[in-house]
Amino acid sequence: MRIFRVGILGATGHVGQRFVLLLQDHPWFEITHLIASPRSKGKAYSEAVGDGWRQDEPMPEGVKKYIVHGTDEMALLKDSVDFVFSAVDMEKDALIQLEEAIAKAEIPVISNNSAMRWTPDVPLIMPEINPDHTQLIKAQRKRLGTKRGFIVVKPNCSIQSFVPALTPLREFGLEEVFVTTYQAVSGAGRRLSDWPEMQHNVIPFISGEEEKSEWEPLRVWGKLTEDRIELARKPLISSQCFRVPVEFGHMAAVFVRFRQPIESTDILMRWRDFSSVAGEANLPSAPRPFLRYFEETDRPQPKYDVSSRKGMGISIGRLREDPIFDYKFVCLSHNLVRGAAGGSILTAELLVHQGWLTQTK
Ligand SMILES: NC(=O)c1ccc[n+]([C@@H]2O[C@H](COP(=O)([O-])OP(=O)(O)OC[C@H]3O[C@@H](n4cnc5c(N)ncnc54)[C@H](OP(=O)(O)O)[C@@H]3O)[C@@H](O)[C@H]2O)c1
Repeated sequence: MRIFRVGILGATGHVGQRFVLLLQDHPWFEITHLIASPRSKGKAYSEAVGDGWRQDEPMPEGVKKYIVHGTDEMALLKDSVDFVFSAVDMEKDALIQLEEAIAKAEIPVISNNSAMRWTPDVPLIMPEINPDHTQLIKAQRKRLGTKRGFIVVKPNCSIQSFVPALTPLREFGLEEVFVTTYQAVSGAGRRLSDWPEMQHNVIPFISGEEEKSEWEPLRVWGKLTEDRIELARKPLISSQCFRVPVEFGHMAAVFVRFRQPIESTDILMRWRDFSSVAGEANLPSAPRPFLRYFEETDRPQPKYDVSSRKGMGISIGRLREDPIFDYKFVCLSHNLVRGAAGGSILTAELLVHQGWLTQTK
């Protein structure tokens, strides 16, 4: 396969840095263009990031001297990339304007931002779960007047821990879900060392997160029509979201109720046998297996399990009966990898596999 040239919008930020790490040895994608705010424009990447490198692994040598560009250099961007990943932190209207301008310049955008997760013709993709929703690109291209350009978004990082575990259980008649998420500080673009208020503390509020946890899954599980997604009607989801003093990894405590009685062995079998287009097509970032169930009573834990299968796998544990609901269990995913940069890279691989992303040179 010929290599795709890739730009990163928001390259100096927490998620952008993770893109830089994950793309350094990617077999299909090569970084050719970095973009950040006017603060960073014109600087070498290492200088623009300065002492703000927030990853455990060091900054790759190869990228240190790359010049960071601004969002106002569209002609240069068009000449330098086949598509861009977006992880920019901007006000909603300005962000929509920017990403649509890039798509209208015939450059596909795979975005981490929440601004367009409810735009009817913008696919909200989890590659293992709703790969067919990319068909919405046809209707979106009509609206934008593009031949090549489009925008695809990925869901909120917290739902990536529990939606994969719930997906194969929907065939049993999943009626109600109660979920509490325990979310790492990196999900707020922070590190524990620069957030004193978080030390020895739990904050029982993350703005907008409970609504996203309750509604985004229904769009991911929704039915594709020509120009939009009909939301799934079930399950009803109630959620609480806590910020906890953990560096990386969002956990979820999940309670489920089914329409009819089911055996725990059926649940375990569905998790074990879950298969998807991403796995079957051997996409480079697809974890094998996607879902892993831990038999140990005290796993999964962020400290030991968050990076399992290069941070792309979903870890599940502690399945047991519940006296009020039917069953309860625990999930874990890496918020910056599966929940952000890695999930976007896998989405791009899916779009290549489906023929939506092509090279321009
Ligand atoms: N952190 C997570 O776990 C996570 C997970 C999923 C999705 N997300 C989403 O991903 C996005 C980025 O999050 P983050 O945590 O990486 O944020 P962040 O660390 O604050 O980084 C923000 C990035 O946006 C750039 N930027 C800000 N204003 C800009 C402008 N006017 N023009 C161009 N670039 C601009 C910054 O450049 P400078 O360095 O030059 O200022 C930086 O590269 C957010 O929308 C967030 O909600 C985050």
